[in-house]
Formats: sequence, structure tokens, C-alpha cells
Amino acid sequence: MNPKTLIFLLPNFIFGIFLFGLFFSRQKNLLGFFPDHTEDWLTVQRDRRNTLASVCQKNNLIKLESKLDSHVASQIFVEHKHKFTYCEVPKVGCSNWKRTIFILQEGLNVEASEIQHDHIHRTSLIKRLSAYPPGEQEEFLNSYTNVMFTRHPLERLVSAYRDKLLHFEPYYSATVANRIKAMFRKSKNSTEKVSFQEFVSFITAVPPNSLDIHWKPMFLLCDPCNIHYDILGKYETLGLDSEQVLKAIGAPGSLRYPSLKRYSSEKRTNGDITLEYLRQLSSEQIEKIKKLYQMDFLLFNYTLKYEDYFL
Ligand SMILES: *[C@@H]1O[C@H](CO)[C@@H](O)[C@H](O)[C@H]1NC(C)=O
Ligand SMILES: *[C@@H]1O[C@H](CO)[C@@H](O)[C@H](O)[C@H]1NC(C)=O
Repeated sequence: MNPKTLIFLLPNFIFGIFLFGLFFSRQKNLLGFFPDHTEDWLTVQRDRRNTLASVCQKNNLIKLESKLDSHVASQIFVEHKHKFTYCEVPKVGCSNWKRTIFILQEGLNVEASEIQHDHIHRTSLIKRLSAYPPGEQEEFLNSYTNVMFTRHPLERLVSAYRDKLLHFEPYYSATVANRIKAMFRKSKNSTEKVSFQEFVSFITAVPPNSLDIHWKPMFLLCDPCNIHYDILGKYETLGLDSEQVLKAIGAPGSLRYPSLKRYSSEKRTNGDITLEYLRQLSSEQIEKIKKLYQMDFLLFNYTLKYEDYFL
């Protein structure tokens, strides 16, 4: 072949490879092998795990002995069909996750809306990790897909207060409320509901580990520095994260994470509602709750988005 022909053919050849590559990469996307949002989602997951790992390290939260705390084991639910565990953090979409686990386990023979709120919380329809001997607990955690979900710590706190102390639920609106009143009220028999201020005084006056699961710091509930969570979901991206969890564990394609709500007429706790409640606190109380939830902020990369107000 003469050199001139070669010089003419070479660029065409290279261009051909380029076109072929372009065509092929489009085909892959069309076929759904590498949908872009999954890659982005995986990047976000990796960032979340890296942040968590470095904060665990920096703050000496990694234990030397690997024994699983029994309180933590009782927060974790196990679903064997899809080899999946879910650590329950109340106020972070957990009722709907428990409904989903039940549906997965029962093989789609039930509808999420058929499962009553109280039913999913009170009965033993789904199994806790604490129900198994220690050896099996460890085996499940080592081989299953472990998932936990978090939420902005102060939004979660306000949500817990609204849910447990403003509604009638005997244990909270009587037993817990009376305990709070006994500690912070002059006239003990006053029937007024516990205020958000009194509630915050209460939770910042007792040891964090003794707090009720609805307001106990998330890192104490699920111990993410010592249990490897494959997926770190967030309430802020609940729809997307849940969809990806279901995909990762190989759930049936027709299963959707439900969006059922307990008090259907009420607004979900959002940033505006949270701010409304935070405004009722003194700066000293704000400092105390920042301290109480400090690790949750750092480990799960939440910023104090109400900072403007705090200054
Ligand atoms: C932390 O959160 C912010 C959004 O609040 C996000 O832009 C950033 O990428 C996150 N960083 C990591 C390491 O996850
Ligand atoms: C609370 O009880 C005291 C006596 O025990 C009574 O004098 C007072 O009026 C009561 N207050 C209210 C708000 O019921």
C-alpha cells in the first residue's frame, strides 16, 4: 500500500472507531445497563460511607471488641428471602419500611395500605436481629445487605415531639408527659400539654443512652461505626434511596416503597415547621441540642441549615 493512501485512510479509520464507540455507549444506555442516575447514586453512597468512616475514626467511635450491643440488635429487622437487614430509626419513614419488609417476606400477597400502623409496630410479623443467637446475628450482618436511613437531626426531633407529645398516645402523652411536667413545672397538676421547650429541657437533662428511641441520637440506635451499612439512605432523598434499596436486594419490580402517613390530615414536619419550633428555644437550649446531636450531624453530613437563625 502506498504511504499516501495510508495517510488518507488512517483518520477515517480512527473516526470510524469513534463513531462505533459513540453508537455503542448510547446503546448501552438505551438498554439500561448503566442508567446514569444509578452511577450518580452510587457515587453519593460512596461519599456518605467515606464521610461516616472518617468521622468514626476521628472521634474514636470504633470499638475494639466486636460484640453487638443488645439495644442495637433490637433495632435491626431481618428479611431472609432478600438477605436484607434494616435498622429502624423512628421518624425516618420506618413504618413504611416495616410494611415493605413484611410484603417482601409474604411474597406480595398483601397491600401496604392493608397493614395498619399500630399492627406493624406492635406485632412480631417481622423479626428482629435480637431474636437470633449471637453467632447468627453476626453471620447475617456479614452476609446480608444492611441498610439504615437518617434524617436531619432537628427535623427528626421536632417530628418526634409533634407525633408523640401533641397526640393522644397513652404512654407518651401521659406517662412521659407527666415525668417531664414533674421535672420542669411548678404546678404539677396543670393539664396543659408539654411544650417544646419543656421537652427539650427534658431530653438534654438525661444521659443520651437512656433516651427514648424516638429522640435518641441515630448513631446510638444503629451504631454505624461498628456495623457496616451497605446503604445509607436519607429521608431527604427517601424516594430515590428506597427505590435503589429495593433494586439492590432484588425485590420484585412491581414493588414500590409506600408513602403512607399516620395522621393523614397533618403536614409532614418540614424545614419551616422545624424553624417555628426552634424559635421557641433559648440559645442555651439550642447549644445543648446541637451538642446532643453533634455526632449525627457529623457522621451523616447534615449541616445546621438553620444557622442564620441561630446567629
Ligand atoms: C455533604 O452534604 C452536602 C449537601 O448538604 C453535599 O453537597 C456534599 O456533597 C456532602 N458531602 C459528602 C462528603 O457527602
Ligand atoms: C393544683 O392542685 C392544687 C392543690 O393540690 C390546687 O390548689 C390548684 O388549684 C390546682 N391547679 C390546677 C391548675 O388545677
